[in-house]
Amino acid sequence: MARTVRLTSTGPHRIDPTTIAPGKMISICTCGLSQSYPLCDGSHRITKTEEQGVLYTYSADSKSVIAQCPDGACQPPASAPSDAIKPEPSAGPVPPIVGS
Ligand code: FES
Repeated sequence: MARTVRLTSTGPHRIDPTTIAPGKMISICTCGLSQSYPLCDGSHRITKTEEQGVLYTYSADSKSVIAQCPDGACQPPASAPSDAIKPEPSAGPVPPIVGS
């Protein structure tokens, strides 16, 4: 299980500690999918069905498999169109995907 995440922020997200109620916990997003990043908004639930060795990409309304990566050698899934595994030019650095 892995996913590509596009982040556009170029600086820190500051949290004013006075806005957090004493004794209340906050959850920091580690899946990268939160719409309230860096705070968890529950969007991570969609990752519960992710499988080992598969690279996922998400949009606001869909989940797509863009590569299967057994032993670290990524290949496009048999059913994927050839352009499905190509990173978008503005996507920034992404792990190399073999087999495009
Ligand atoms: S950990 Fe990312 S939304 Fe919860």
